[in-house]
Amino acid sequence: MQNYTVRPAKSVRGEISVPGDKSISHRSIMFGSIASGVTTVTGFLRGEDALATLEAFRAMGVQIDDDGETVTIQGRGLHGLSEPTDVLDCGNSGTSMRLLTGLLAGQNFFSVLSGDKYLRARPMKRVVGPLAQMGARISGRAGGEKAPLAIQGSKLIGIEYDSPVSSAQVKSAIMLAGLYAGGETVVREPHLSRDHSERMLRAFGAHVETFPGGVKVRGGAELTGRDIVVPGDISSAAFFLVAALIVPGSDLLIRGVGVNPTRTGIIDVLKGMGGDLELTNLRDESGEPVADIRVRHSKLTAMEISGDVVPRAIDEFPAICVAASLAQGTTVVRDAAELRVKETDRISAMADNLRRAGVSIVETPDGMEITGVASLKGCAADSFGDHRIAMSMMVAGLVAQNETSVSDVECIATSFPGFVNLIEGVVQR
Ligand code: S3P
Repeated sequence: MQNYTVRPAKSVRGEISVPGDKSISHRSIMFGSIASGVTTVTGFLRGEDALATLEAFRAMGVQIDDDGETVTIQGRGLHGLSEPTDVLDCGNSGTSMRLLTGLLAGQNFFSVLSGDKYLRARPMKRVVGPLAQMGARISGRAGGEKAPLAIQGSKLIGIEYDSPVSSAQVKSAIMLAGLYAGGETVVREPHLSRDHSERMLRAFGAHVETFPGGVKVRGGAELTGRDIVVPGDISSAAFFLVAALIVPGSDLLIRGVGVNPTRTGIIDVLKGMGGDLELTNLRDESGEPVADIRVRHSKLTAMEISGDVVPRAIDEFPAICVAASLAQGTTVVRDAAELRVKETDRISAMADNLRRAGVSIVETPDGMEITGVASLKGCAADSFGDHRIAMSMMVAGLVAQNETSVSDVECIATSFPGFVNLIEGVVQR
């Protein structure tokens, strides 16, 4: 297991772009594979998670070529996948496993999904339950709560489902099953989660209608292959946004970042804390809003983070915790119990690490209270095998008094290969 040692920085300056959006990369492979005709994807994220999805579709007979620039998918149509001869390995990727569970439920073959020890510990009933209501035949460990999941494809019928959680993975799994189901499938959620599936499926020609509080899908429509440009991942940009805000003298431009409003909670939160962030060159790429973001070092103040901004910033909380640790006052996070079932329990992982760095933190069942300090102590941080915890603590290390070591940093490759080189390239010491 590889450790990384971070030294304090003088400033973070320059111009960068970040790798492609993970959520959009997964969906481009999935929808392109079940569309008719060719789909091309540029800006595809070649991280372990999205590559797990790509390999799963290859294992179901889809020809997918990657020349290093463009990924080209020879779509097989809605009913053109073939039965995989082995377990489909989703690695660390919840998006692969949950969306595939929905998509595979309506096939005319048998499949098994598994993943690494972290993914096998994550809750799956949230998709298995509603899919069973549609007629899906799925079994798994702990009564279908845990992977491996075995899916015997079957005939599905549309349902109306009120999801108790605001989760794009749950919503998308049901929508994908809905493509194969008779009639209409409706999913409602408490707060709007990321809507990439809605946008992209509609662009592929699926019958998808959104309304306040939910989405409706009509089964049976053939999808048609298309060209997709994947924007930079705002969840990856988040580490650089926080780094530039907290390191004195910083001024950084991040080009081509996806700024879909269901993903920009991080911008709202950091601006709410007093962060100097400027969005310029707003444009549209493949139905997704994109912008350049300029960020300068700022004096941050604490705030309360709760309600509908939580799903809009769900993956950014580890980075937000670092910003809050250096903000004046006590930042209160509520309504974020979902953080406990991510790649690791991100509330307890960040509380543990930031305490080692000298921050006082109170954990609550659905959030935390973080009282900012003037400066962090160098410490031995633990990634807990979670890419976003590892990157957040590396950012924290830029403003610590001496060296910070972060354990087990290989996991960063799940979402952000090249992170270390990119950050070291803009840090001045
Ligand atoms: C994702 C949805 C979110 C997010 C994950 C990616 C997606 O998960 O945390 O990193 O691509 O749909 P939930 O749907 O569980 O909130």
